[in-house]
Amino acid sequence: MENALESPSMSRRQLLNFLTGSVVATVVGVAVVPAAKFFSPPSETTEGGGMIAKDILGNPIPARQILAEISGTRALVAGLAGEPTYLTIQEDGTLHPWGIVNNCTHLGCTFPWNGIDEEFQCPCHGSRYSDQGVVLRGPANRPLKLVHVSVVGDSIWLYPWSETDPRTNEKPWWV
Ligand code: FES
Repeated sequence: MENALESPSMSRRQLLNFLTGSVVATVVGVAVVPAAKFFSPPSETTEGGGMIAKDILGNPIPARQILAEISGTRALVAGLAGEPTYLTIQEDGTLHPWGIVNNCTHLGCTFPWNGIDEEFQCPCHGSRYSDQGVVLRGPANRPLKLVHVSVVGDSIWLYPWSETDPRTNEKPWWV
């Protein structure tokens, strides 16, 4: 587990990787605004509804840039429909096949990853989620939305998740 005292906070690290300094301040300062306002929806998709992960400026993020991060990193990218989405670097250095959409299921705030508590913690009304996006504390009562993550060459592809939610073994609430 990362020692938060020895490295920048995960939320700062994940943002610095992909956003400019001015945008970092903006994103942190307006966490109470619904997530969709931060990213312009990318235009192109594939037949399967997939989209390449991008940065705040709409530029594709090379997979090697994300994979260079240490295990446990939560990397924030612009995903499907421009939704900010967390990608997770696993212990073996690969990307977790689930992306977690940074949009609180209570009222839609964005939230940081807290690397000390190892939770996503929403600043708006205190909801907390596990590293897999399961609600640990309300008022949110639904898990965070998932997307599929796949690395092809040096690109990171995100695809809609419409199958059973593996966390609940039920149909996803967002489908
Ligand atoms: S919007 Fe996240 S707890 Fe209310």
